[in-house]
Amino acid sequence: MTARRLDGKALAATIRGELAARVAARTAAGKPAPGLAVVLVGDNPASLSYVRAKQKACGEVGIVSRLDHLPAATKQAKLLALIAKLNADPAIHGILVQLPLPPQIAEDAVVHAIGSLKDVDAFHPENVGLLTLGQPRYSPCTPHGCIQLLRRCGHDPAGKHVVVVGRSNIVGKPLAVMLMQKPTAANPAGGDATVTVAHSRTTNLAKVCRQADVLIAAVGKAGVITADMVRPGAAVLDVGTNLVDGKLVGDVDPAVAAVAGALSPVPGGVGPMTIAMLLENTVRAAELIDGPVSR
Ligand code: GUN
Repeated sequence: MTARRLDGKALAATIRGELAARVAARTAAGKPAPGLAVVLVGDNPASLSYVRAKQKACGEVGIVSRLDHLPAATKQAKLLALIAKLNADPAIHGILVQLPLPPQIAEDAVVHAIGSLKDVDAFHPENVGLLTLGQPRYSPCTPHGCIQLLRRCGHDPAGKHVVVVGRSNIVGKPLAVMLMQKPTAANPAGGDATVTVAHSRTTNLAKVCRQADVLIAAVGKAGVITADMVRPGAAVLDVGTNLVDGKLVGDVDPAVAAVAGALSPVPGGVGPMTIAMLLENTVRAAELIDGPVSR
């Protein structure tokens, strides 16, 4: 079997087109364009490239973006003061502080400081709570991108056994929550799936993975998901973004393509979908803060 390619790059372009129309309708109705503030501390090369990609995508849909690029030695108080300024700025609807942060800055303090209405990453405890209750204000970008990629490529997770490998606060944990939820009008992304979360202490990981109709790798280790861990015909999403000898590679070994029924590539799979979901959250933030366009 050669796996069908789950083309996140193409799907993200379609979604950007849909969002551009939503933004154009707002500006035509006299509303200000949505504004996203991106904050980067230091010069991590991967973070720099993600931030550039996010800003480019904003430009394509009519979201106004600004970048505050602070030196690696920036003190936490200085970053918190910038966040307070962005919280109070009416032209800014979404605030994203790129992670990871340098060691002198506590990630928690930063996540808590971003106003919950402007928290387009959906990392703030209030937004995590709302998501967990099935009443999301914003859906976290990478998990939402995974669910959209599956659904819009004909692999609806409803009723399926999904195995998520990884339990991070950014991907594995919120993804498992979203996948298990019932879809409702207030929570259309709910996956209606049966979910298993595997992690570094899971006994016989290969056996657990082989039970998956849909296998999602969000570990952060190049090539850890090998062909023997995949049931023939399963759909596999690769959330890994690992730099190996300067090349971006996923968590899934390339030999999996011979076994899986469908596979998302790295790059060009989940990554562009994450950015598309960030844009969607920023448009939603503008709607929540400045009001929707009346029809
Ligand atoms: N670093 C890696 N992924 C993310 C993300 O989704 N949001 C932010 N802010 N930082 C990240």
